[in-house]
Amino acid sequence: MTKCITVAKVADLEPGACLSVEAGGVGVALFNVNGMIYALENTCPHAGGPLGEGTLAGEVVECPWHGWRYNVRTGEKLGNPEIKVTCYQVQVTGDLIQVSVPLES
Ligand code: FES
Repeated sequence: MTKCITVAKVADLEPGACLSVEAGGVGVALFNVNGMIYALENTCPHAGGPLGEGTLAGEVVECPWHGWRYNVRTGEKLGNPEIKVTCYQVQVTGDLIQVSVPLES
């Protein structure tokens, strides 16, 4: 089960930008790739760096701590897709960005 939570306004996330937000206790990184919004878990599997504070180039985000890079559409680490960050479903309703995150049990 998931819950759809409003996390930001579209105006908060320019094309090419990243943003760290929280959705129901879950840290989420948002990315705007040419107007398409993507959401990943905001914790880098390497050592916990905040991907929402990384650098976005096209559809690739570089972790701000040690430079691991992930495709924001798939969550896969470049060069090693077995390392993967959780992707969350994004919905844009009017000027609001909403993310579906797992319900807490
Ligand atoms: S914490 Fe992300 S690359 Fe090290």
